Formats: sequence, C-alpha cells, structure tokens
Amino acid sequence: MRAHTSQFKGQRALVTGASSGIGAAIARELAALGVDLVLTARRRDALEAVAATCQGVKVEIVTGDLGQPDAARALWAAATASGPIDILINNAGFGYFRRFDEVDWARDAELIQLNMTSLVALARCFVDAHKAGSGPAHMLNIASTGAYQSVPNMALYAASKTFVRNFSEGLHDEHRGTPLSVTCVCPGGTDTGFHAASGGGDYSWIANASTQSPEFVAQAAVRAMLQGQRTVVPGLFNQLSTFGVRFLSRRWASRVATQVLGRPRLTLPARSTT
Ligand SMILES: NC(=O)c1ccc[n+]([C@@H]2O[C@H](COP(=O)([O-])OP(=O)(O)OC[C@H]3O[C@@H](n4cnc5c(N)ncnc54)[C@H](OP(=O)(O)O)[C@@H]3O)[C@@H](O)[C@H]2O)c1
Repeated sequence: MRAHTSQFKGQRALVTGASSGIGAAIARELAALGVDLVLTARRRDALEAVAATCQGVKVEIVTGDLGQPDAARALWAAATASGPIDILINNAGFGYFRRFDEVDWARDAELIQLNMTSLVALARCFVDAHKAGSGPAHMLNIASTGAYQSVPNMALYAASKTFVRNFSEGLHDEHRGTPLSVTCVCPGGTDTGFHAASGGGDYSWIANASTQSPEFVAQAAVRAMLQGQRTVVPGLFNQLSTFGVRFLSRRWASRVATQVLGRPRLTLPARSTT
C-alpha cells in the first residue's frame, strides 16, 4: 500500500549518509512522499547532487563528519534550528573488509564512532525531542544481514551492526503503543560505494547474484518504517539466509560467511576526510 503524499506535508526527515547509496535512495523515496529533508554527510558536492534529484520538497544540507566525537549533537542542533525532525534515518556507516590485525586503531575508532556512538547520540536527541509524544515520529536504523552472525574479515563491522539491530529492537519494544516507532533494516549486499570503500570485491558468485539495488532496499526500508515494523530484511535470499542461520552452529555460520564473501582485496583505500 502506497502512503499518500498529503499525509507527510510539513514533516521533516534527517537522513545521515545521504550523499550516496542507500541514504540517497531513501532521501528520494521520502521526497516522493512529500517529506522535507535535511541531508547530511561529509561531501557537500555529492549532497547537492542528491538534493537536486529530490523534487517538490524543501531540502537543507548540513555537512559533518559523524566519525568524530560530538559531531552528532552539533548536527542535531543544526538540523532542528529551523524546525522539528519527525523522521530520523540513521544510515551513515562504513566497514573494512580486512583481518583485524591488518588495520589500525584510528580506523576502528572511526567505525565505532560512526556506526554506533553517533547513531546512539542521534537516537538520544530524537527520543528526547519526542518524549512529550505530540505526533507520529519514526526512527529508521540501518544495520545489515551481518547483524545475524559473526563475519570473519568484517569482524568489527558485523559486531557494530549486531549492536544496531539489538539496540533498535529494544527501542522498538520500549515504544510499543506510543506515537514513536523504531524500525531496523538489515540489507544484504547492495550495489553502492560501500564495497570500494571497504576494500571488498572478490565476492563469491552467490554474493554477487544476491546483490540488490539501493532503490530496492530504500523502498523496503521506508515502507517498513511507515508501517511501524520492528525489523525488515530486504530480498528473498537475505530473508532465507538470516532465517536459516539459526539452524547452524555459530561456528559454521561464520565459516559459511567466509565462503560467501570470498577473499579480501589486497589494498584498503585510505579513509577520506572532511
Ligand atoms: N552496501 C551494502 O552492501 C550494505 C549492506 C548492508 C548494510 N549497509 C549499510 O548501509 C548504510 C549505507 O551504506 P551504503 O551501502 O549506501 O554505502 P555508501 O554509498 O558508501 O554510503 C555511505 C554514506 O555514509 C556517509 N559517511 C561515511 N562516513 C561518514 C562519516 N565519517 N561522517 C558522515 N557520513 C559518513 C557517506 O558520505 P560521505 O562520504 O559524503 O561522508 C555516504 O553518504 C551503511 O550503514 C552500511 O553499513 C550496506
């Protein structure tokens, strides 16, 4: 069932990681529903290109590096300066496809900050702002199918997404029966810049065959969020694999993940900075 645009007139969404991939696709989905947008990421030019594709709604751009401490609270202050935020899309994230002992602490610290700490800080600001319960509010947190098991060569990334899933599902249950809904989306492989940035790429045929488009993931995510669902896994293959993993021992699930993902590439791109 397609939501009606007039239903969202005057509503504002904050979308993190909106400069590419799933975040950009979610921004376009929300714009099509008539939701005004605050788009954030580090690259202003890429955000402006996405904003140009979000027709018929007001779009604000706030640049910031959510891999830095305190950036989330500064972002929230900037995003709410011109009005309340009714929808929070916690999408920004990155991973590295590499053994833990081949990476340094600076990259780990940035991953922990971006994927978990900044996400929690924004969730805190959003929940506090909606405590009075004045109207419907939606939070959508992007985890991964990696949230369902340990993933060798993406150990810290998969652990961060397990955190996002458990945190989101706990918040969902706490807010049952209130105007605030919390939804977690767990995409599998999606065709975005994530893989070039993570140093991944030599994936098995099954990983490549099950890859989804960011638009497919965004549609499923926004639909689930508006329906107030708890968790959604977009795509049949991903649904089967996240369901089937409960019948394997955790050690075997980890081995299967290693086979499905294949070997890491030889070089890991340098992290981009603001
Ligand atoms: N692609 C997949 O296969 C896949 C699968 C499962 C889950 N996911 C999750 O989906 C989410 C979106 O990823 P994607 O696949 O769309 O990848 P993407 O195209 O690389 O998008 C990542 C977004 O996060 C932003 N970002 C990265 N580092 C940031 C930082 N330090 N501060 C602020 N923004 C930052 C990037 O913008 P700037 O570079 O401009 O800052 C970009 O907009 C992530 O949470 C990812 O873990 C992806």
